[in-house]
Amino acid sequence: MNSSRFPIEIFSRGEYIAPDRTGYFHTNGIRIMKLYNGIEKLRFGTPEDGVPSRQMFVKPPRREAIEAMPQAANTPAPEAIRFTVTSRGCRLEIPLAPGEDIYGLGLNLKSLRHTGKKRTLRVNSDPATDTGDSHAPAPLYFSSAGYGVLIDTARYATFYCGGNELLDSGDDVPPDDPNRILLTEAELYAARKTSAPMVIDIPAAGGVDVYFFSGPTLLDAVRRYVLFCGGGAMPPEWGLGCWYRTCGTSDAAGVDAMSAELREKQIPCDVLGLEPGWQSKTYSCSFRWSQERFPEPEKLISKLRERGYHVNLWEHLFTHPTSPIYEDLKPYAGDFKVWKGLVPDLTLPPAAKIFADYHAKNFTSKGISSFKLDECDNSDFIASPWSFPECSQFPSGLDGETMHSMLGMLYMETITRASRQSGIRGYGSVRNAHAFAPPQPYVLYSDLYDHAEFIRGVTSCGFSGMLWTPELRHARSPEDYLRRLEAMVLSPQMLLNIWSMPHPPWRQLQQEKNIAGEFYPPEEQARLEEATRRILELRMQFIPYLYEAFAEYHDFGTPPFRALAMDYPDEPAMRGIDYAWMAGDRLLVVPFRAGMTELDMPLPPGEWFDFYTGECHRNHVMLRPAHDQLPILVRGAAVVPLAEPVLFVADKMKFHLKRKCFGINPRPAKLFADDGCSFAFENDSARYYGEVSAKGALPPQLCERYELID
Ligand code: GAL
Repeated sequence: MNSSRFPIEIFSRGEYIAPDRTGYFHTNGIRIMKLYNGIEKLRFGTPEDGVPSRQMFVKPPRREAIEAMPQAANTPAPEAIRFTVTSRGCRLEIPLAPGEDIYGLGLNLKSLRHTGKKRTLRVNSDPATDTGDSHAPAPLYFSSAGYGVLIDTARYATFYCGGNELLDSGDDVPPDDPNRILLTEAELYAARKTSAPMVIDIPAAGGVDVYFFSGPTLLDAVRRYVLFCGGGAMPPEWGLGCWYRTCGTSDAAGVDAMSAELREKQIPCDVLGLEPGWQSKTYSCSFRWSQERFPEPEKLISKLRERGYHVNLWEHLFTHPTSPIYEDLKPYAGDFKVWKGLVPDLTLPPAAKIFADYHAKNFTSKGISSFKLDECDNSDFIASPWSFPECSQFPSGLDGETMHSMLGMLYMETITRASRQSGIRGYGSVRNAHAFAPPQPYVLYSDLYDHAEFIRGVTSCGFSGMLWTPELRHARSPEDYLRRLEAMVLSPQMLLNIWSMPHPPWRQLQQEKNIAGEFYPPEEQARLEEATRRILELRMQFIPYLYEAFAEYHDFGTPPFRALAMDYPDEPAMRGIDYAWMAGDRLLVVPFRAGMTELDMPLPPGEWFDFYTGECHRNHVMLRPAHDQLPILVRGAAVVPLAEPVLFVADKMKFHLKRKCFGINPRPAKLFADDGCSFAFENDSARYYGEVSAKGALPPQLCERYELID
C-alpha cells in the first residue's frame, strides 16, 4: 500500500515547516506525517521498495477505533532521532530513557525482555541462542514507557536495545570512587548502564520509514499498532476448539478410524489435521491427493464433516514439478529450488492468483476449512539446511533475505484469499510471520520442544500481534504430558500435533514406543485418556470467553494473550515474567512444567481469586497444583462465563452457560455473539456484545447463541 491511502492531518507536535506536496512535514531533515490519532510516520532517507508496508499491509486501519482511543503523544521526539547512511546500509538512533524496558521484535522463544541486548532479526526455525533469531521476527518494539516503534524493513535488521553508548553522548557517568574496584559481572554491567539509545542497523537500505505508536500506556500502544494493521484476527469458534493432527503416514482408513475413535471416546475435537501423507508428493509439494492413500478424498471429507470435524491440510509452498501449478508458476519463481520444488514469488499478483485460485478450486470449495503452512521460515543453521539462500533473486526484484522475512505473511494472505473466495473464515497454522501480522488468522508453531520456551512464546508474541501455540507432540512422562496439555487451555490453540505417532498419546506418550505399538497397561491408558478428556473439556468451557477476547482483539486491538508486563508495566516485579500470561481481560494463567512442584507467584496489585477454590490472594500466591490442574487466577471480583463442554462446536450452536462468580459484587463478563463461522460479523448488524451479570437473565441479543443453565 502507498502512503496516499492515509489521511493527512495537521501535525501538532513541535515546530515544523509546512507540509510539502506529498503531505510530509519537515523538521531536522526528517519527513513526518501524522496518520491517525497517536500514530505518526517518519521518513528517513530513501526507503527501499521491498518493505513490509508495501507487501503485507493488506487491511485498512481501523480508523474509528483508533480515533476513539485516548489522545497521547508520548513517543520519542523526532528531533532527538538520528539517522545516518552507513557503508552497511543505514542506522537509526532513537533515544531511550533510563529504566525503559523493551519488548516485542516478534516471536521470541529465548527471552521476553530485550533491554540492553543485541537482537538480529534473522529468520531461523532453529534459534540456538538468545540473539533475536526467530521463526517470526518483527522489526517492531514496544517500551514500558508506553509507546511502540515499527521499522518498515524486511532486512535482517539489528536492534541494539540500549546497550551501546555513542561517543558524543556526553558524560553522564558519575565520577568513579577510586577506592572501589568493580569485581562482579553485575557491577561491571551496572556501571556501564547509561541512557544509551536504541540503535538500529539496517543492512542494504539507504532509508527507512518508521511508524510511531503512542500510548499513553504500553497496552494502548500495542492496541494502536494492532488497529493500524487492520485489527486482530477473528477466528471462527471451531478454531478455538481442540485440534488433533493425525500421523503423517496415515491413509484414509487411518484418518477415518481416528476420527471415529475420538468421537467414541468422547475426546473433544473440532479440527482433524492431515499431515504430508495426504499428497501424492511432498517435500516439495504436488498439492494433489495421493491416489493410493486417499483414493476418494471428497467422500472422506464429507464423512469427517458429518462427524463435526473441520479438516486442515498440511503443506508448504515449495512446488514440485509434478504439481498441476508448477508450469504456470515457473515464470514467477525464485532462482533457487527447495527440495526440488520452485519457490513462487507471491508478491507478484499473477503468482498469488494461480496459487490462491488453485486452493480455492481444489480445496476450500471442497470442504477443506484450513491449512498448516509449514516451512515458510528458514533454516540454514542445522545439519541439513533446506531453504533458499539470502542471496536468491526473485522476479519481483526481492532478494532471499527480504523474501524470508515476508514469506509467511505472503503465504497466509494468499491462502486467506482462497478461503474467503469460498466463504470460509479460517484459522490455520504457520511457521513464519513478520510486521502487519495481527489480522492474519494463523497460529505460529515450531519443531522445537522446550516447554519453558513454548510457554514464553505465548508471552512474547502478544507484543507483535502474533499468536503462538505451545503444542503437544509427545511427552517424556505422564506429568510432562499433562503439563503440556494444560499450558494450551488458555492459549491461542489447543493443538495435539500427533503427526509423528500412529497411535493416540494416551496409549503411549513416547514416540519410539508409540510407533512400535508398545502400549501402557490398560489402567494407565484409561487414566491418561480420562485426564486428556478433562483438560480438553476445560478448554471447551472457555470457548465463549476466548471468543469474546478475540472480538476485542479484532475491534479494539487488545491482544487476547498478554505478558503481565503489557498490563502492568509500572510494576517492576511484572516486567520480566515470561512464564504466565493474561488470557482475556480477567484470567491469569500460570502453566506449570514437569518437575515443578511449587511456585511463589508475585501478583499484580489488587485481589486475585483462585479459579477452583475462590480463595482471595494479594501480592503473591503460593501455587502447588496437582499434575492435572492448570493454575488460573481471576482478576478482581468478576463473573467468568463457562460453557457446558461439547465434543465440537457446530455452526451456530447454542452454548449452555454457567456463571462462576468471584468476590463481592463481581463485575459482569462480556460476551460476543455472531454466527461464529462466516464473515457476517464484519457487518455491524450481525454482531453483538452483551454483558453477563452475576444474577439475572442474559440480554436478548445474546440469547440466540447463549443460554444460562445455572
Ligand atoms: C514439520 C512440522 C511438523 C510436521 C512435519 C511433517 O516441518 O513442523 O509439525 O508437520 O513437518 O513432516
